[in-house]
Amino acid sequence: MTTGDQKAKYPYFEEDTSAEVVNARMGADADPRLKEVMSIIVKHLHAAVKEIEPTNEEWLAAIKFLTDTGHMCNQWRQEFILLSDVLGVSMLVDSINNRRPNGATPNTILGPFYVSGAPRYDNGANICLDGKGEPMVASGKVIDINGMPVYGAQIEVWQTNDEGFYDVQQKGVQPDWNLRGVFTSAHDGSYWFRSVKPRHYPIPNDGPVGKLLGQIGRHPNRAAHLHFIVTAPGYEPVITHIFTPDCEYLSEDAVFGVKQDLIADFEKVDDESKAQKLGLKAPYWSVKWDFTLAPRESQEGSTDWINRVVAN
Ligand code: BEZ
Ligand code: FE
Repeated sequence: MTTGDQKAKYPYFEEDTSAEVVNARMGADADPRLKEVMSIIVKHLHAAVKEIEPTNEEWLAAIKFLTDTGHMCNQWRQEFILLSDVLGVSMLVDSINNRRPNGATPNTILGPFYVSGAPRYDNGANICLDGKGEPMVASGKVIDINGMPVYGAQIEVWQTNDEGFYDVQQKGVQPDWNLRGVFTSAHDGSYWFRSVKPRHYPIPNDGPVGKLLGQIGRHPNRAAHLHFIVTAPGYEPVITHIFTPDCEYLSEDAVFGVKQDLIADFEKVDDESKAQKLGLKAPYWSVKWDFTLAPRESQEGSTDWINRVVAN
């Protein structure tokens, strides 16, 4: 009997059945979830390659892009997450994992500039430590989906400075912990703090992802926003933003983070006596925003993974 007569253990490669040929090789003992994930990825990857029919040069360019993306990553920069962000995949994963009851504050993307351990402040504190920007007061309540106040909720906020950079992007230029703080809701669920009106800014675009955006005719700008994480015992944690309504990038946010329900009203107040009472200069911006928390369904909340990432 020649080798060619032996019954093949696995099917040989054929263009038409390529994905099935690859998936047939997975071992019976492999983790079932991993098998499911890998077989779906192989199926769709092969379908994409069949539709694209890349030349060898094009395929090598794709490999080089992924290699460059990996080389751009370090302790501070995660270019693969940025890639996932600009392709809308981060928002899709976030949406799948944070389906909430009607009326609850929606989630949006966390972004790479969250840093745990921000200073805790009493309500009313000013988190702008560099004094740059248009003054703003943010106030509102943390409530549940029945409208009842949530006492003792933790409201963590972070934002860029008036030049469009987070403190961690400008170490030694901005004061440490500039424009970051953690507040606690009072008995009636209320919170308030002072800061500056956020402005739009570009996501890091000096790497392969920024170059790709340019090549496909997209800009790197994020619509102006404040980031929040709101947590309270017994409620689903909320990772979210609020957006200014007047930003030119609202409907073309580079990472698809804007949701209609997260666009706030920012009122310009030109009243010196009101400003003085708040310790601000007129004119200032006032934004009122309530966070509505959904009851916690599982033991693990949606921010617990952040703690694991931070711990690693
Ligand atoms: C941010 O909002 O901080 C952000 C989100 C995604 C990519 C880059 C920055
Ligand atoms: Fe941001």
